[in-house]
Amino acid sequence: MLPEIITKIPGPNSRALAENLRQYESRNITYVSNDFPIFWDRAKDTNVWDVDNNRFLDLTSAFAVSSLGHSCPELVSAFAEQSEHLMHGMGDVHPTMQKVQLCKKLSSLTFERWTGKKAKTILSSSGSESIESALKTASIATEKHGVISFEGCYHGTGFGSLSAGAMPRFKDPFIKQLSDFGNIVPYGNTGLEQVKKILLNECIGAVIVEPILGRGGKVVPENDFLPSLRSLCDEHNALLIIDEIYTGLNRTGKLFACEHWDVVPDIICLGKALSGGFPISACIGKASIMDAWPESDGEAIHTSTFLGHPGGCAMALASLNKHSNPEIATDVSIKGTHFKELLENIDTPSSGSVRGMGLMLGLEIIDHDGKPNGSLASKVIPSALRSGLITLADGPSGHVIVFAPPFTISEEEMFFAAEWFKTELKTSS
Ligand SMILES: Cc1ncc(COP(=O)(O)O)c(C=O)c1O
Repeated sequence: MLPEIITKIPGPNSRALAENLRQYESRNITYVSNDFPIFWDRAKDTNVWDVDNNRFLDLTSAFAVSSLGHSCPELVSAFAEQSEHLMHGMGDVHPTMQKVQLCKKLSSLTFERWTGKKAKTILSSSGSESIESALKTASIATEKHGVISFEGCYHGTGFGSLSAGAMPRFKDPFIKQLSDFGNIVPYGNTGLEQVKKILLNECIGAVIVEPILGRGGKVVPENDFLPSLRSLCDEHNALLIIDEIYTGLNRTGKLFACEHWDVVPDIICLGKALSGGFPISACIGKASIMDAWPESDGEAIHTSTFLGHPGGCAMALASLNKHSNPEIATDVSIKGTHFKELLENIDTPSSGSVRGMGLMLGLEIIDHDGKPNGSLASKVIPSALRSGLITLADGPSGHVIVFAPPFTISEEEMFFAAEWFKTELKTSS
């Protein structure tokens, strides 16, 4: 459904909640200003309603989680049925059948599909934790503790994932507590020479990379970037960790983004759309690598209370069942190409390039010299909200407007969104 134009944003109920949140939640967690946020009440497909009953069109899939549409019926009933039956297990001590089924399914959709060989999984609750499982695995498997990562990459805010990540905004306030195992080089082919040099001269166990920059601004690298990283890792016995927490599960028009370049990682990390709404993530690796973890002697050396949560596993299984239908990838590809064309037609002095693949797109906002214009993007986003459009800003300067809607987005909704931005950017240019 198309959104409503709402003049009073936030409405009275959202404003009252914001005031309370300001008093009781720590600062710098939720951004609270006079015209932000709205508080969500319910959602269906591409629409979200706030606590004042305003209807919005979600162009973000709520951080790329609700790919199959908000409240996708199969996922809702998977969770409802599971929670009535067993709400919580003892993940690493007395697990559930759902955990076994999920690990098996993840193997069959990744390494078994790519290589015919089994994979093993470490489940966790957030994307950030799955990255930390991958980094620990690399350290155990290679006995080399250095890591190479890339400018613009975001891997989460845990100390390990933050150390590997490369967004100063998130790292700088905590820099003294972070580990210095990371070597950060430019993303894309310009960084390859440095990757080579570091692999030659230092003790590097892993190269970690996003196949397309998500929060870094929807940047698609050159076609030979990922294949070159694969070859370099092979030459130097380093593991290639591909972070598909954003790109995975059809977001880019393939089941996994690495498949655009026929690159098989050693470890792949998934989160967000894996369950479509429950905090569950996975670090999946070739069994030969994952088997570097020693057998447990009774007390696992890597664990977490909610690891393999039955509700999360049930939702992830339902979600993977849907995602394994190849028609989804084709549909995302077709819709993505069309949405990209509509966004490319926004021909104003403030609109720059349209980046991304499939339904993971970004529109660059620029100034008169063609430079990133984060301050204009930060005005356009609340203005879009007043017109019923939910979006976000990505990129190092916050100048890339996100278009990552649920896959259920209609032609009419894509057209509406593109036309709205065209009109808005014409008047604000
Ligand atoms: C590529 C990528 N990796 C890791 C993360 C961290 O995931 P989480 O926020 O679930 O910890 C994100 C989150 O946006 C992401 O986009």
